[in-house]
Amino acid sequence: MKIAILGHGTVGSGVSKIIQNRQGDLVSNSLEIKYIYVRPNKVAENPLFTADYDQILNDDEVEVVVEVMGGLEPAKTMIIQALSHGKNVVTANKAVVARNIVEFNQVANQNNARFYFESAVGGGIPWIINLERALRIDQIDSIHGIFNGTSNYILDVMTKTGASFADVLKEAQDLGYAEADPSADIDGYDIENKLCISVDIAYNTFVQPGDELLKFGIRNITDQDIQYFKDQGWVVKLIGRSFRKDNRFSFVVEPTLYSPGEIEAGIHNNYNYVGLRGNTIGKLSFNGQGAGELPTAHALVQDILDLAAHTSHLYREFDQPLTLDNSLKLKNYV
Ligand code: HSE
Repeated sequence: MKIAILGHGTVGSGVSKIIQNRQGDLVSNSLEIKYIYVRPNKVAENPLFTADYDQILNDDEVEVVVEVMGGLEPAKTMIIQALSHGKNVVTANKAVVARNIVEFNQVANQNNARFYFESAVGGGIPWIINLERALRIDQIDSIHGIFNGTSNYILDVMTKTGASFADVLKEAQDLGYAEADPSADIDGYDIENKLCISVDIAYNTFVQPGDELLKFGIRNITDQDIQYFKDQGWVVKLIGRSFRKDNRFSFVVEPTLYSPGEIEAGIHNNYNYVGLRGNTIGKLSFNGQGAGELPTAHALVQDILDLAAHTSHLYREFDQPLTLDNSLKLKNYV
């Protein structure tokens, strides 16, 4: 299966490494990178580099376009163009998926192409696929988790070392966890995108990121705040959570205090923790690295392998209209 990668930042480089190092039997036997789309001034650096997207779109050998440029445009247009040319698309771009999931699925279906985005939520955690599996049997009435590796890293290191917010944010940027503009990580927008995508799938609705969705970030948290929480026996985490009941749902991103014995309190470094509650499975949760080069690239390559193996993912219509109601709380939910 021949692949074109759009973008060669942290995650794009990770995809190249996994495929070119022939990591795993399936990868080495079936995947080949044919093009890497980069800016014109980079083209001379590598024979696979091109700045000509038409070359990729018009090459019938390219079956998969991997979009890892991030941002809304030109990513959205390039994804639509790839799907319109009958190419499968995999992407880690949660911002573009959260806003365009319906349109991407429609264009994919019209062109006999497939559109997968496992890596967009939870980094290396196989979350979307397990959400879809749970839905084959269950109604899901809640989703919650630490959906952002950078904010978890910042809060965790501040808790462990007493370091300042600004110093730990800089470390997270140097480690490649944070977005180019870290406000997405520290103001709750990244979690909003990921919770929107999860809610779309879980409740079969389309919830777009926007002002009506409640978000509180950690930008103003200080080392004194963290010390105060510690003194009171609490650990703080930035959490996204949503409940659904009948035709209503709640949606909030907010710092939340846990006692040290609770699962969330034990999620360290850049790890994510994501969970759901279904009517037969009960509570089900996962943790793993939610950001970073290789964990995110791992999830992208898993999507490509699913395409190669013709494993189909569930396509939902996202057509259930639900009303936002943040007073909604579910009984027996911890
Ligand atoms: N900046 C994101 C995070 C990257 O820290 O979780 C993965 O989506």
